[in-house]
Amino acid sequence: MERPLIFAANWKMNHGPEEARAFAQKFLALTSAVEGRSLWFFPPAVSIAALSETLGNRPDVSVGAQNVHWEPKGAFTGAISIPMVMEVGARLTLVGHSERRHLFGETDEQAARKTRAALNAGITPLVCVGETLAERDGGRTEQVIVRQLGPIFQALQPGDWAKVLLAYEPVWAIGTGKNATPDDAAQIHELIRLELGRREVVQRVPILYGGSVNSGNVAFLLSRPQIDGVLVGGASLDPAGWAELIEQGSRSKVRPSGGYDIIAG
Ligand code: PGA
Repeated sequence: MERPLIFAANWKMNHGPEEARAFAQKFLALTSAVEGRSLWFFPPAVSIAALSETLGNRPDVSVGAQNVHWEPKGAFTGAISIPMVMEVGARLTLVGHSERRHLFGETDEQAARKTRAALNAGITPLVCVGETLAERDGGRTEQVIVRQLGPIFQALQPGDWAKVLLAYEPVWAIGTGKNATPDDAAQIHELIRLELGRREVVQRVPILYGGSVNSGNVAFLLSRPQIDGVLVGGASLDPAGWAELIEQGSRSKVRPSGGYDIIAG
């Protein structure tokens, strides 16, 4: 089965509704829909409606939330539920981004509850995993990723994985300008696939790479068949820069087998 090549923009705490609208207008003029390519946006929650309204007519664009609570409603001050973000146009949600884990103390178990709740509500979870520099230097990358995935395997049935995507984002590469080499990233993606196989997940779950992806390195990363797309923070904030990154990355072409081949030139 053919899979789309995914370019996902994580705006983090940038671009309120007005800036989101201005971004969308410029971005629409710079790009057009291409078959086999999906463009995803994760703006701050307050900008989901503005972005869905302005980009909503493009069949290749989907808008998502950066974080959601697993309960549909209740006494959770400051939290936003999945039905609420869906009401304003979100069709996807990030789960367990490293900034949620490391800056806000989100646990592996909470990420699993959010993943389960997203599937129950009919929104697509993009679950992020990745090791810190200390964990990597200590040779614990594999152990950390297996630990992060553990509660998610417990919360999901093997068949649920048909609607889940993963992102491998080494924490040491996020916002630092140091990206994993295509070989490093491909190796961890392989490891994740082995782990999925061990848990009898038969679907080919798409795995995105994230961490200092830019228009100069995106085509190299996507040339690896193990990497199904990219999750991009800093380099997704400017409409021209983001359009250029998508253009460069699209030099990697979808293969019918579900992987990607780089096209010369
Ligand atoms: P970055 O962020 O591209 O700025 O490194 C990626 C992310 O955190 O998703």
